[in-house]
Amino acid sequence: MALLASTSLLLAGLYLRTTSSVQISETPSQAAGHPPVFTLPPSADRGKNILPNIKDPKAIDPQTVCPGYKASNLQDTKDGFTADLDLAGPACNVYGTDVEHLALSVEFQGDDRVHVEIRPRYITPGNETWFLLPEELVPRPSARQAYTPGPNDLTVSWSNDPSFSFTVKRGAIGDTLFSTEGKRLVYEDQFIEFISTLPEDYNLYGLGEVIHGFRLGNNLTRTLFAADVADTIDANIYGSHPVYLDTRYFTVDESGKLTYVANAKDMAAKYVSYTHGVFLRNAHAQEILLQSSGITWRTTGGSIDLYFYSGPKAEDVIRSYQQSTTGLPAMQRYWTLGFHQCRWGYDSWAVLQEVVDNFAKFEIPVETVWCESHSSAPRMGRNDPVRFGYEEGARFLAQLHANHQHYVPIVDSAIYAPNPENPGDAYPPYDRGVEANAFMMNPDGSIYYGAVWPGYTVFPDWVGAVLNGSGAIDWWIDELSRWSEKVAFDGLWIDMSEVASFCVGSCGTGNLTLNPVHPPFGLPGEAGNLVLQYPEGFELTNSSEAVSASSALSTQEAASPTTASPTSSFYRTTPTPGVRNVDWPPYAINNIHGDLAVHAVSPNATHHGGYLEYDFHNMFGHQILNATYRALLKIHEGKRPFIIGRSTFAGSGKWAGHWGGDNAALWAYMYFSIPQALSFSLFGVPMFGVDTCGFGGNSNYELCSRWMQLSAFFPFYRNHNILGAIPQEPYVWASVIDATKTAMRIRYALLPYLYTLMARASLEGSTVMRALAWEFPDEPWLADADRQFMLGRAIMVTPCLEQGASTVRGVFPGVGDGGKKTVWYDWYTGKAVTDEIKPGQNVTIEAPLGHIPVYLRGGSVVPVQGPGMTTTESRRNPWGLIVALDREGFAEGELYLDDGESLEPAAVTWVQFTATNTSITAVPQGDYVDNNTFGNATVMGLAKGPVRMWLNRRVLDHANWQYDQDRAVLLLYGLNHLFPQGAWTDKWEINWE
Ligand code: NOJ
Repeated sequence: MALLASTSLLLAGLYLRTTSSVQISETPSQAAGHPPVFTLPPSADRGKNILPNIKDPKAIDPQTVCPGYKASNLQDTKDGFTADLDLAGPACNVYGTDVEHLALSVEFQGDDRVHVEIRPRYITPGNETWFLLPEELVPRPSARQAYTPGPNDLTVSWSNDPSFSFTVKRGAIGDTLFSTEGKRLVYEDQFIEFISTLPEDYNLYGLGEVIHGFRLGNNLTRTLFAADVADTIDANIYGSHPVYLDTRYFTVDESGKLTYVANAKDMAAKYVSYTHGVFLRNAHAQEILLQSSGITWRTTGGSIDLYFYSGPKAEDVIRSYQQSTTGLPAMQRYWTLGFHQCRWGYDSWAVLQEVVDNFAKFEIPVETVWCESHSSAPRMGRNDPVRFGYEEGARFLAQLHANHQHYVPIVDSAIYAPNPENPGDAYPPYDRGVEANAFMMNPDGSIYYGAVWPGYTVFPDWVGAVLNGSGAIDWWIDELSRWSEKVAFDGLWIDMSEVASFCVGSCGTGNLTLNPVHPPFGLPGEAGNLVLQYPEGFELTNSSEAVSASSALSTQEAASPTTASPTSSFYRTTPTPGVRNVDWPPYAINNIHGDLAVHAVSPNATHHGGYLEYDFHNMFGHQILNATYRALLKIHEGKRPFIIGRSTFAGSGKWAGHWGGDNAALWAYMYFSIPQALSFSLFGVPMFGVDTCGFGGNSNYELCSRWMQLSAFFPFYRNHNILGAIPQEPYVWASVIDATKTAMRIRYALLPYLYTLMARASLEGSTVMRALAWEFPDEPWLADADRQFMLGRAIMVTPCLEQGASTVRGVFPGVGDGGKKTVWYDWYTGKAVTDEIKPGQNVTIEAPLGHIPVYLRGGSVVPVQGPGMTTTESRRNPWGLIVALDREGFAEGELYLDDGESLEPAAVTWVQFTATNTSITAVPQGDYVDNNTFGNATVMGLAKGPVRMWLNRRVLDHANWQYDQDRAVLLLYGLNHLFPQGAWTDKWEINWE
């Protein structure tokens, strides 16, 4: 037990937020081996000791000192109304300078959406302190249609009593969705606060990016400020998505009257739910305080640019949010849905070849290998000539591509700035970038030099490029194009895009001759670095090894110098009227790194056009995806770009997918992958997955088995591992090989279904991974269900998330849904599982290692294809259908087909399926031609077996079907010869009696 305690403490220290800001073990142990020499000392990445406002006992509550505003000059407009707002008393200047005169505008933008905007009334050109987020960076949703009152309409009212407030209601049921009544509006150049009451025990989701359970609590502060940090629970991490869903459950009495129910758990009662969404179009560092009484939204700049979406279902909100606001998610290429293998430390083409060969040897599909060591320290556009030589690479990639496999390299956001005195260090991408004015600057116009992996670096200026026409985007497109001519990559992985810098300020200025530097912390696996020791729960399965390891560890820990504890004096600033303090804003957010300049480009870094990083920090990760998308459009002309990015903002999904960042090889992180994925469904980034088997720390066979199986049901399926950890490719443990193959067979069979879901998402804004609460909106006990999830409407996954367990507890939603009663079928047996189960009941399900419980929802037809070793191979296999009948003996589904890669496919086909107790019908429409035959079908929930069967009225041979009375499953097989032209050339029907 001793080892477990110390090991998990060590890992917990890495990933769980404690009191200080240090997340990475910065102090290498002197005890073992040769410690690294830090060219850049740890002190280079220390800022001032900041006490976050929410933790500061001396912090002023703006509500106690600020006067609020009074509204006047109300004017009706075509789609709403406007008013003037003026400060209702002397300025408070609590965390900035009060803006005296504001403009309110309320615009109904559609039947389900209203825009409430409050901004400075007089914005003079050049007055950058009154900041409005430029539309060129984040488009503003515009009115879809004239406002026509309807049953789910929103209403907006306002009041001046005691000061200006506004209230948004759901007209149909008179429910108050958002009301600032009784609270004062605070609007300053560096601080905005507005507060709304919320119902008791509210259910809010979103407000990411955060590692947290799916349902956000009622006592939690969310900080949104992009940070380069391992996945730390409840802290600000990589992305910013200022949007939430609010789901409310009501009981309905006989007269139809609704009564809100807090924490509704009475499984015998009948409920309905309404969900709405709220988006704040603001990219500044901000904080959302979720308290039992309501929500307090604080930003450090920007404006109040609020959008309300009425739903009333979660899916409606998400669809409307994506259609109107973020843009629809990028459609992915078919191959991207195959399995991806990555690790930090595949350090030559030869090693990558070995990985590919091992997958083949163990007959595990691998679609794509990822690489991040294409040079000694990652440098976009230049490969290490020894380990990643271009000629050898060309041979490797040609073979890989011939096998229908793919290659994705990392692209770090920062660009190496070479030693100007060493001609051998020349790095042409840097020189060309300087020439193109592509990089961020210091306030005096000189280049800003930070530091990342390769040493001192510069940072592309996307904001300047978009707003001011400076050169970063064109330069980026050119550099990536040049690189693609030497390395035939298939997609790109954008890392460190928060944007990370390992020192405070322009630490490279005057120091470039010191390049290359070692980062100011020990790298994982470097001599003396304690980070990676024993897998979680090691002592449970390896008790004798654990005893000696435990004593070795304590000796080592005793010898390690302790990290300095934070000093007790904190740095606070007070506002100077009329002057913004961008370096140390008077309102200190609860940033994981404390000072805003730590581990990031400093707030006073300057963009071409004079824009300050302070106002655009959360835009870097978003805009590098935009630039990279444009580059890939050029490189792979006409094809869909494949990009996985780390830092995202509202709208990034239209360019890229996202991975969950630096998680750890801990059971907790496997669980957190589900709520993180569900949040990204809401954020409009369906192409999401996490570092399967865990990034930080050593994985183990049990965790990796479970995780390889779980991630097989995520849209983006990648195994990734930190430098220095033990290997965790799925072939390194026998049990993981088996578990992986089992899950991959299901995934690859389901590729057509997954691709169809992706198509729907990119065409309409629907979701791929779904919360149970979204699919079953009338079951309040599902409000926080995040250990199970749906893939589309048809598949439910109930993974085992606990070490040592061989069963898992899960619910079967919908079973009590009035007369409809959802029926669920076990994926593996086809047998209905729900006859005796009650709504909300937690059922114990067998889940021995190697088995992941998967269920089909009655009422669904799921298209499948024989699983192959690659997606290309799978796409050439015969088709099949899985029919899961509902209690009325009905099912439906659909299939989307295209060439799998074109941005604008020349031909597409949709196939609609319906099935009954006596038939299956397929109706194709479209001109995409797929010649694969139709081989088999499984019909689940068929009470009586057929006596005769027909395909398009032609009698089917009895040898083509088999009925299993015990399981109530009908199997049809060997039909291929009946579809010589392909499964979907014409409408067909199979009937039986
Ligand atoms: C940080 C990324 O999150 C991680 O996935 C990657 O392996 C390291 N950077 C090293 O490039």
